[in-house]
Amino acid sequence: MRVMVTGGAGFIGSAFVHRLAIRTDLTALTVLDKLTYAGNLANLADFADDPRYRFVHGDINDVDLVDQLAKDADCIVNFAAESHVDRSIEAADAFVTTDVHGVFTLLEAARRHSISRFVQVSTDEVYGDVVTGSSREGDALRPRSPYAASKAGGDLLALAYHTTHGVPVIVTRGSNTYGPRQYPEKVIPLFITNAIDGELLPLYGDGQQVRDWLHVDDHCAGVEAVLVQGSPGETYNIAGGASLTNLELTHQLLRLTDRPVSLVRHVTDRLAHDRRYSLDASKLMSLGWAPRVSLEDGLVSTVAWYQDNEDWWRPIKSGAFRDYYRRQYADRLAGGRAPQ
Ligand code: NAD
Ligand code: TYD
Repeated sequence: MRVMVTGGAGFIGSAFVHRLAIRTDLTALTVLDKLTYAGNLANLADFADDPRYRFVHGDINDVDLVDQLAKDADCIVNFAAESHVDRSIEAADAFVTTDVHGVFTLLEAARRHSISRFVQVSTDEVYGDVVTGSSREGDALRPRSPYAASKAGGDLLALAYHTTHGVPVIVTRGSNTYGPRQYPEKVIPLFITNAIDGELLPLYGDGQQVRDWLHVDDHCAGVEAVLVQGSPGETYNIAGGASLTNLELTHQLLRLTDRPVSLVRHVTDRLAHDRRYSLDASKLMSLGWAPRVSLEDGLVSTVAWYQDNEDWWRPIKSGAFRDYYRRQYADRLAGGRAPQ
């Protein structure tokens, strides 16, 4: 099996590459990644000497490059995306370019080169706010942020290429994912690293928003299961099965880092902040997949990873991330409210 993984230098993509490399039927593994602020070659350092592995620095929108790489692949697994809701609220251009048009470029190449499996990695956010119950794959998509809408665009385009052109597309929609090597703009690594440094934790609004948390290893196992056993044209939800409010999550992170609740600041809420996501993953479970990492164990090991790997995240937090953090949080923290 020759696999092209796009976005493989990011958080989930690099974990997936680690997982694929264990497979004995893997004969070639090409990672195509633009190395945006979120891409990090250190995430792939383990493969430098693997003869099956090749890293290509490039954009999924580069038609000629994608065409050339697709010629030598049996499967494409697309993780490449702009992935952060708050950045999509600041400026959405790159989201539309990568998350919609980039997917189009990959699909066209897959169509020309008779790719045997195309997995489009999508998100639970495409379903929008889920007040009660859990989203199933056939539910309507009601994305509410520019990030979620651009992902929904890529997701639906991929399914349309299956219906119209017979491209063997499979879509996954995963829950909020966490684990080692997640860029510290996302809430779990942001709060862990701020807590390690004794800095304030900016909790949006009342902190009563609910997310379903999925460990990155379980997310990657789900993507692998659909790559190998999924049916073309189908969509599979990947859920962690561990729902809690952001406030509860924050308290758990403070307990695990041994920091006081007084570090919490309730700050101005995110625009159009979805209150709740929840997925029904029974379709994927019927293929034999199930989440294996409990939230309790996953948070313990994730906190330990950030404590033990400061050389991974400190350069990020003291580099370009600082400007982003100031833009997003300086005013919010100044006007923030301490817990009662
Ligand atoms: P990430 O931001 O950590 O990584 C994205 C990667 O894509 C980076 O390596 C980046 O350099 C690369 N990239 C961006 N634009 C590119 C382009 N035009 N061409 C080539 N490479 C490009 O993201 P992540 O958290 O690892 O998410 C991976 C995928 O999983 C995304 O598609 C995301 O929508 C989806 N997803 C994420 C979560 C989550 O909680 N993180 C949950 C469900 C689904
Ligand atoms: P995030 O990690 O950005 O993931 P997503 O928006 O994809 O769900 O945010 C997870 C939750 O945490 C979300 O409800 C927003 C909230 N949040 C905060 O309260 N403070 C923060 O600084 C961040 C980044 C997120």
